[in-house]
Amino acid sequence: MRLSCSINGVRRDIDDVAGGESLLFTLRERAGLAGSKNACEQGECGSCTVYLDGEPVCACLVAALQAHGREVVTVEGLGGADPVQRAFVATGAVQCGFCTPGLVMTARELLQRRPNPSDPEIREALAGNLCRCTGYEKIFDAVRLAASPAGESA
Ligand code: FES
Ligand code: FES
Repeated sequence: MRLSCSINGVRRDIDDVAGGESLLFTLRERAGLAGSKNACEQGECGSCTVYLDGEPVCACLVAALQAHGREVVTVEGLGGADPVQRAFVATGAVQCGFCTPGLVMTARELLQRRPNPSDPEIREALAGNLCRCTGYEKIFDAVRLAASPAGESA
């Protein structure tokens, strides 16, 4: 089947999408967008987080055809210089980097909702994003930095 949707602001028509295919598979294997990572495929790790009509979703749990006619934004759509991305780099919150795309997407959505989140709010927002490397402290530092006035120039 054909999936027609907006991906990172560009209208895409993707053919031969199977009914049971996940949005994550389609993005990575058919659309050439490998930034969203596939770690668990069970909705447990958050590494595949994308925005679907502005809401963060685990792309591994969304059928690709559910995105028909809708807007998908992946980490590639941020362009690499988003303040949250810069804050992750500035604070050393990236080690192997596998979790980073999903964390960045989740953190951005938090900061849009809560521009000055408390530490418990940051912890709660990021609870669905697993990282095996960092111990999370630098990730929390990155979100705090992105939320601060210094975040814009990080
Ligand atoms: S790969 Fe989707 S939540 Fe882990
Ligand atoms: S930096 Fe390696 S899993 Fe998070």
